[in-house]
Amino acid sequence: MTNLQVVILAAGKGTRMKSALPKVLHGLAGKPLLGHVIDAAKALSAESIAVVYGHGGEAVPEAFADTGARFVLQEPQLGTGDAVRKALPVLADEGVTLVLYGDVPLILASTIARVSAAAADALCILTVELENPTGYGRIVRDAAGAVKAIVEEKDADPATKAIREINTGIIALPSAWLREWIGALRNNNAQGEYYLTDVIGMAAAAGKPICTEQPDTEWEVMGVNSREQLAELERIHQREIATALMVAGVTLADPARLDVRGTLECARDVFIDVGCVFEGRVTLGEGVEIGPYCVIRDSEIAAGTKVQAFSHFERAKVGADARIGPFARLRPGADLDRDVHIGNFVEVKASRLGVGSKANHLAYLGDSEIGSNVNVGAGTITCNYDGANKYKTIIEDDAFIGSDTQLVAPVRVGKGATLGAGTTLTKDAPPGELTISRPKQTTIPGWKRPVKNGAKR
Ligand code: UD1
Ligand code: CA
Repeated sequence: MTNLQVVILAAGKGTRMKSALPKVLHGLAGKPLLGHVIDAAKALSAESIAVVYGHGGEAVPEAFADTGARFVLQEPQLGTGDAVRKALPVLADEGVTLVLYGDVPLILASTIARVSAAAADALCILTVELENPTGYGRIVRDAAGAVKAIVEEKDADPATKAIREINTGIIALPSAWLREWIGALRNNNAQGEYYLTDVIGMAAAAGKPICTEQPDTEWEVMGVNSREQLAELERIHQREIATALMVAGVTLADPARLDVRGTLECARDVFIDVGCVFEGRVTLGEGVEIGPYCVIRDSEIAAGTKVQAFSHFERAKVGADARIGPFARLRPGADLDRDVHIGNFVEVKASRLGVGSKANHLAYLGDSEIGSNVNVGAGTITCNYDGANKYKTIIEDDAFIGSDTQLVAPVRVGKGATLGAGTTLTKDAPPGELTISRPKQTTIPGWKRPVKNGAKR
């Protein structure tokens, strides 16, 4: 929408969170509450976004420094009307101004787009009818149904308290009207605050059109005041994500036991078992299976790959038809080609493994380049770090690395080479040959085990 100015109110103290962290920095699905609201405003192509903050020093502006939003300090907090007044100097005085709350994180862009569009030449309030409206500002209408005012709970008489239509707090109006009325707000009310909601009475008195819009769902307009409410919204949000995945053709063992903190893109026929956490940007190809209790962050897994229980991925790339886990750890820069097998207690960091290579048990592969069809035996370790610098291990195609081998980098294992079990490789191993570093086995005939002093022989 052109010329949309957004004000996000986020100066409230958040006392009930009982936290050192400003409320709007608490995370929902891995992103601060305020981040969700800024993203919704951005989805509307707002011309400018002003955030009114109040607590936690500069923590709020610092957390969102790269969003392009402008930050305005409100200190002390004298009410929602005062907060909006503080924001106006950093916004253009044209178009429509939309007011959002930093602690109402799940508001849908489509809903606020409707409210903003309706506010081109009217004041538009997002309202809902609640079974129990206690605590909210009530929408007061005249006999003809026209909105006359919003009356706060604490200022309401019993008849007004009986009204079930409430103000969600989200309001949009022509910026010029807001600028005209904002200075006239008074704090002569039960709370001694400057109420933004008093502009509704002013609009009615000036004969300006006032309209209302409703959200598609009730959870969109739910606010976070306590950790219980935060947890409740987290579950609602996760349920929405799970539903969208199922609609897109993903099977979830239990939609209530999935956590997506970022974006999870799945091709069809993906299966995800219980207890998995996806963070950042993750893509899963067709038919990928993720076993229970995996944590996968910023990774790409290609079609047909099966990941078994308790595996951990971070910035890893896995090709098609691979087998990973259980208990595998893929760290940043793990780049596995198709048909690779990574088994239990194998850690891979900044390493490429070619087609069909396997490391099935207990190994550390760091800073290495491993060709195709390489077999890495149990207990193999790339000694990539001398305490100061890191070095590369290169293992060419078809090599066989015997169990319990240490590859002291920089070192190269030639194509088709075999390393005997227990080798400590400090020099390159030539292609096609067996290389082994192991003291010759000896037996001492007649040797006796020591016994405790004083024991009978
Ligand atoms: C406000 C509305 C009420 C509505 C309710 C919905 C007013 C006067 N009342 O009431 O009609 O039903 O929200 O939840 O607007 N904030 C500031 N600075 C301030 C005061 C508040 O930034 O000085 C921010 C808060 O951080 C919060 C939002 O504004 O995000 C609402 O503040 P809150 O105190 O929750 O408003 P209510 O009194 O509940
Ligand atoms: Ca509130």
